Amino acid sequence: MIQKIDHIGIAVSSLDEMIPVYEKAYGLTCEKIEEVPSQKVRTAFFDVKGVHLELLEPTSDDSPIAIFIAKKGEGIHHIAFATDDVLGQLAQASDADIKLIHKEPIDGANGKKVAFLHPKSTHGVLTEFCS
Ligand code: CO
Repeated sequence: MIQKIDHIGIAVSSLDEMIPVYEKAYGLTCEKIEEVPSQKVRTAFFDVKGVHLELLEPTSDDSPIAIFIAKKGEGIHHIAFATDDVLGQLAQASDADIKLIHKEPIDGANGKKVAFLHPKSTHGVLTEFCS
Protein backbone atom coordinates (compact mmCIF):
# COMPACT_ATOMS: atom_id res chain seq x y z
CA MET A 1 0.00 0.00 0.00
CA ILE A 2 1.25 3.51 -0.79
CA GLN A 3 2.00 5.29 2.50
CA LYS A 4 3.02 8.78 1.44
CA ILE A 5 5.04 10.78 -1.05
CA ASP A 6 8.58 9.91 0.01
CA HIS A 7 10.50 12.31 -2.17
CA ILE A 8 10.57 14.38 -5.33
CA GLY A 9 13.63 13.89 -7.51
CA ILE A 10 15.10 16.98 -9.16
CA ALA A 11 17.76 16.74 -11.87
CA VAL A 12 20.58 19.27 -11.49
CA SER A 13 23.89 19.70 -13.31
CA SER A 14 25.79 20.60 -10.15
CA LEU A 15 25.05 19.82 -6.51
CA ASP A 16 27.76 22.25 -5.45
CA GLU A 17 25.88 24.99 -7.25
CA MET A 18 22.34 24.02 -6.23
CA ILE A 19 22.68 22.99 -2.57
CA PRO A 20 23.48 26.57 -1.49
CA VAL A 21 20.49 27.81 -3.53
CA TYR A 22 18.07 25.54 -1.65
CA GLU A 23 19.71 26.50 1.64
CA LYS A 24 19.75 30.25 1.00
CA ALA A 25 16.52 30.70 -0.98
CA TYR A 26 14.32 28.31 1.05
CA GLY A 27 16.14 28.04 4.37
CA LEU A 28 16.34 24.25 4.03
CA THR A 29 19.29 22.23 5.32
CA CYS A 30 21.04 19.59 3.27
CA GLU A 31 20.81 16.43 5.38
CA LYS A 32 23.28 14.36 3.45
CA ILE A 33 25.04 13.76 0.17
CA GLU A 34 25.26 10.22 -1.14
CA GLU A 35 26.58 8.64 -4.30
CA VAL A 36 24.38 5.92 -5.83
CA PRO A 37 26.59 3.91 -8.21
CA SER A 38 23.69 1.79 -9.52
CA GLN A 39 22.10 4.96 -10.95
CA LYS A 40 25.31 6.90 -11.67
CA VAL A 41 24.23 9.87 -9.56
CA ARG A 42 25.24 11.87 -6.55
CA THR A 43 22.24 12.85 -4.46
CA ALA A 44 21.57 15.53 -1.89
CA PHE A 45 18.59 15.25 0.46
CA PHE A 46 16.51 17.99 2.02
CA ASP A 47 13.80 17.15 4.54
CA VAL A 48 10.57 19.10 4.15
CA LYS A 49 8.48 17.83 7.07
CA GLY A 50 8.92 14.18 6.16
CA VAL A 51 8.80 14.61 2.38
CA HIS A 52 12.25 14.88 0.86
CA LEU A 53 13.70 16.75 -2.05
CA GLU A 54 16.33 14.58 -3.73
CA LEU A 55 18.67 16.60 -5.91
CA LEU A 56 20.29 14.34 -8.50
CA GLU A 57 23.61 15.13 -10.16
CA PRO A 58 24.94 12.83 -12.89
CA THR A 59 28.34 11.22 -12.21
CA SER A 60 28.93 10.19 -15.83
CA ASP A 61 27.78 11.10 -19.33
CA ASP A 62 25.73 7.91 -19.64
CA SER A 63 23.95 8.45 -16.33
CA PRO A 64 20.14 8.46 -16.74
CA ILE A 65 20.21 11.94 -15.19
CA ALA A 66 22.76 13.19 -17.74
CA ILE A 67 20.53 11.87 -20.53
CA PHE A 68 17.45 13.48 -18.93
CA ILE A 69 19.19 16.88 -18.63
CA ALA A 70 20.45 16.66 -22.23
CA LYS A 71 16.90 15.98 -23.46
CA LYS A 72 14.74 18.10 -21.19
CA GLY A 73 17.03 20.33 -19.17
CA GLU A 74 17.26 20.50 -15.40
CA GLY A 75 14.10 20.23 -13.35
CA ILE A 76 11.63 17.81 -11.77
CA HIS A 77 12.70 14.29 -12.67
CA HIS A 78 10.53 11.87 -10.68
CA ILE A 79 8.04 11.42 -7.88
CA ALA A 80 8.58 8.65 -5.36
CA PHE A 81 5.92 6.92 -3.30
CA ALA A 82 6.82 5.14 -0.08
CA THR A 83 5.20 1.73 0.08
CA ASP A 84 5.35 -1.24 2.43
CA ASP A 85 5.49 -3.59 -0.56
CA VAL A 86 7.43 -2.57 -3.70
CA LEU A 87 6.84 -5.91 -5.45
CA GLY A 88 3.10 -5.80 -4.77
CA GLN A 89 2.98 -2.21 -5.99
CA LEU A 90 4.75 -3.23 -9.23
CA ALA A 91 2.32 -6.10 -9.73
CA GLN A 92 -0.65 -3.77 -9.22
CA ALA A 93 0.74 -1.24 -11.72
CA SER A 94 1.56 -3.98 -14.21
CA ASP A 95 -2.00 -5.34 -13.91
CA ALA A 96 -3.19 -1.84 -14.83
CA ASP A 97 -1.10 -2.02 -18.05
CA ILE A 98 1.67 0.25 -16.77
CA LYS A 99 5.05 -0.60 -18.26
CA LEU A 100 7.76 -1.28 -15.66
CA ILE A 101 11.40 -0.21 -15.88
CA HIS A 102 12.25 -2.58 -13.02
CA LYS A 103 10.42 -5.85 -12.47
CA GLU A 104 12.16 -6.16 -9.11
CA PRO A 105 13.48 -3.55 -6.65
CA ILE A 106 17.09 -2.38 -6.98
CA ASP A 107 19.33 -0.60 -4.43
CA GLY A 108 18.51 3.10 -4.24
CA ALA A 109 19.73 6.04 -2.17
CA ASN A 110 19.25 6.06 1.60
CA GLY A 111 19.51 2.26 1.83
CA LYS A 112 16.13 1.88 0.19
CA LYS A 113 14.83 -0.67 -2.29
CA VAL A 114 13.44 1.16 -5.30
CA ALA A 115 11.74 0.42 -8.63
CA PHE A 116 10.58 2.69 -11.43
CA LEU A 117 7.59 2.72 -13.76
CA HIS A 118 8.12 3.72 -17.37
CA PRO A 119 7.16 7.39 -17.94
CA LYS A 120 5.76 6.58 -21.39
CA SER A 121 2.93 4.65 -19.78
CA THR A 122 2.34 7.21 -17.01
CA HIS A 123 1.93 10.20 -19.35
CA GLY A 124 5.38 11.59 -18.73
CA VAL A 125 5.61 11.17 -14.95
CA LEU A 126 8.59 9.04 -14.01
CA THR A 127 7.29 7.22 -10.93
CA GLU A 128 9.28 5.42 -8.25
CA PHE A 129 8.18 3.07 -5.52
CA CYS A 130 10.50 2.77 -2.52
CA SER A 131 10.58 1.01 0.79
CO1 CO B 1 14.18 8.76 -6.12
